[in-house]
Amino acid sequence: MRILVVNGSPKGKYSVTLQTLLFLEKKFAAHEFEYLHAGQQINALAKDFSKAEKALRDADLIIFSYPVYTCIATSQLHRFISLLKSSGLDISGKFAAQITTSKHFYDFTAHKYIEENCCGLGLKYIRGLSADMDDLTTEKGQKEAEEFMRYVLWCAENNIYEPAKDYSPAKRLPVTPVAENSEGKSGDVVIVADLSGEDKGLKDMISRFRSVSAYKTRIVNLADIPMKGGCLGCFSCAPKGECVYDDGFAVALKNEIHSADAIVYAFTIKDHSMGWLFKQYDDRQFCNGHRPVTKGKPVGYLIGGNYPEEANLKAIIEARSEVGGNFLAGVACDQTDPDGEIDNLARKLAYAIENKLSLPANFYGVGGMKVFRDMIWLMRGLMKADHKFYKKKGLYDFPQRKVGTLIKMYFAGAFFSNEKLKARIGMKAINEGMLMPYKKVIDKACEKKG
Ligand SMILES: Cc1cc2nc3c(=O)[nH]c(=O)nc-3n(C[C@H](O)[C@H](O)[C@H](O)COP(=O)(O)O)c2cc1C
Repeated sequence: MRILVVNGSPKGKYSVTLQTLLFLEKKFAAHEFEYLHAGQQINALAKDFSKAEKALRDADLIIFSYPVYTCIATSQLHRFISLLKSSGLDISGKFAAQITTSKHFYDFTAHKYIEENCCGLGLKYIRGLSADMDDLTTEKGQKEAEEFMRYVLWCAENNIYEPAKDYSPAKRLPVTPVAENSEGKSGDVVIVADLSGEDKGLKDMISRFRSVSAYKTRIVNLADIPMKGGCLGCFSCAPKGECVYDDGFAVALKNEIHSADAIVYAFTIKDHSMGWLFKQYDDRQFCNGHRPVTKGKPVGYLIGGNYPEEANLKAIIEARSEVGGNFLAGVACDQTDPDGEIDNLARKLAYAIENKLSLPANFYGVGGMKVFRDMIWLMRGLMKADHKFYKKKGLYDFPQRKVGTLIKMYFAGAFFSNEKLKARIGMKAINEGMLMPYKKVIDKACEKKG
């Protein structure tokens, strides 16, 4: 088979992920491997896509090889997919798969994004390999990579691939304008918007939000944020949080965006995602490492397009709020009731600001922070800025030193294993005993009220 590896890492031949492909090329010598360093050469490809077109046309199997960046693919690979789609090149019927390396933090949402786009391009998508950064250096990782490749080739030989999901086209409803009245408004809600698509629908959503917001709002257009390019994945920012680009992005992020009372993101869905420019903005925030620097700040979204059908994008948006410790006040889109959704978003956001609303994280947040915690602990020699922050904020919540709970659980274990004792005391008393600490809280609450 002619296998085209689309390397979405900005590091080109220095990509860690790519090493798995180079390993597989040696192991599967009967097949022909070609490499397109799409991530590194994205600016050149944006000017002239013909090199990519030829490589894609010649391939029987396309493997997307890339690192997971902020829950999804790199901004460079986003842009590549967008260029591919707008080129009009028909690559339907070819096989496609993907290989990523990451620390498994939201690797599944990245894989889903590529799967959705492969299916949209009419490619026969075979499930991917999500490896840890270090997997290839272990025998187990090498075996898994080989097994994966054998599986992919077997699927291709037998014409077996994943079923494609059909997405209905967005039915974008108009937004009713409301006259702006900024009198008496205070506070500061920043709207970070991707207005590059000249999308009137999105602009109208933003306008209505600004009018109905009880807080003062301002727009930061992504095109005006100083960004010389996408994140290069060089990790130079790890010790001190300083980016190799000298474009002032970090300062703008801190002073113009993170300084606000709340942040509202506005974009139109592109290729099942937020679009490459928005992704570039997200990736560049790696200068803040894995530190939830906006913790406690409510966020909201204004989204043009068929958001209700985009389950993966929903997961990414929710995950980012949960891990960041931001109350997600809502996502208003333009599919069913844009006016109502925008107005409710504005009200919920105002409520969250006024009441400093902070609710416990769900699995997305708790699980995500545990992955970060373990990773930063291990990499603390490099990720100095993260390590300092995690120490200061008490985010290293291991090993668990809850000695009281530990002893209680031993007692409970011994008790529950003793049928005679259980029968003598009875389930009613056991249940009541378990609820005693909660009952105390409730009794106290009543006392206070009274
Ligand atoms: C900007 C940036 C964002 C990242 N985001 C994630 C992430 O969301 N999840 C994860 O598990 N790893 C994340 N990583 C780690 C990379 O996925 C990992 O280092 C990968 O192995 C790099 O592969 P490459 O050398 O092929 O580019 C991120 C790294 C960078 C630089």
